[in-house]
Amino acid sequence: MTLSELESAKAGSLAEIAAAADAAAVEALRVKYVGRNGSIPALIKAMKDVPKEERPAFGKAVQAWRAEVESALAAKGAGASGAKAFDGDLSQPGRWRALGVKHPLTRVIEETARIFGHLGFTVADGPELENRFNNFTALNTPPHHPSQDRTDTFWFNDDCLLRTQTSPVQIRTMLANKPPVRVICPGRTFRRDTTDATHSANFHQIEGLYVDETATKPVSLADLKSVLAYFAREMMGDGVTVRFRPHFFPFTEPSVEVDFSCHVCKGKGCGVCKQSGWIEVAGAGMVDPRVFKHVGYDPEKYSGYAFGFGVERIAMIKYGIPDIRWLYENDLRFLRQLG
Ligand code: PHE
Repeated sequence: MTLSELESAKAGSLAEIAAAADAAAVEALRVKYVGRNGSIPALIKAMKDVPKEERPAFGKAVQAWRAEVESALAAKGAGASGAKAFDGDLSQPGRWRALGVKHPLTRVIEETARIFGHLGFTVADGPELENRFNNFTALNTPPHHPSQDRTDTFWFNDDCLLRTQTSPVQIRTMLANKPPVRVICPGRTFRRDTTDATHSANFHQIEGLYVDETATKPVSLADLKSVLAYFAREMMGDGVTVRFRPHFFPFTEPSVEVDFSCHVCKGKGCGVCKQSGWIEVAGAGMVDPRVFKHVGYDPEKYSGYAFGFGVERIAMIKYGIPDIRWLYENDLRFLRQLG
């Protein structure tokens, strides 16, 4: 093909495209000229036969032809890549798909997994239906302890209950693994509480457990404090600190309650922290040797810490949610505000 033949072929192709009456005709012309076996790709393949000195001018002309054909096709509604011509009704209103937002509890759980993930913790899981051993006995909770009471716990029969805490996942994890153990366990928990602004019979906790060999990596209360201080800063913001208050849990010794300094007033005292400057968020302590014995860990060889906190509580203080029930009512006007 000479340059002038090429020019007339180009004019012909553009006229054909201009005359195409419908999408099918446009598509047929796309295939004919710029499709994989179309005439323009064929010319490009045949370039090697064009005498060397004519090649640059010829190549330029072919590329120009291709560009003009593609823009003519596009103007006719064919995608240059060959997509079908749009045949929808542009006068119709668009279909609007609302983007979902994550539930505040999901956010707190995911954020916690991310923060502890940086420290080498993995996520462990356990069932909501538990037995007495995992929920109480192995956690060194005696049968007469009030938490085992029929009025505090949902029992199905003598052995089977809805877990009252995520701590049974500690037991499951240790029974199934040798130390070192470094897990967090988020999950749903149940207590026979009457629902009000701060209580719900159904809520969520996140448990943490770290156990290692005392001789090589002794785990201390100071480690627990520094890990929770890191968590507090990452979750609630820079400047938030933690304090420990002595407490009692059957499965930790010593036991502490953990407060975060108030992220709203920075510890000065405000409505959120009830003027105290501190907000109680978690229970924690060093794993009691009796718990280690129940899971077959030698308490002389291993030491560890555990902590547990309420997900609703963190969500409420982090996002300023005044009533726990809002987290369960699925009112989109509320849920979308945090999107
Ligand atoms: N399970 C305790 C509770 O529900 C919290 C806790 C977990 C305390 C781990 C100490 C260690 O109150």
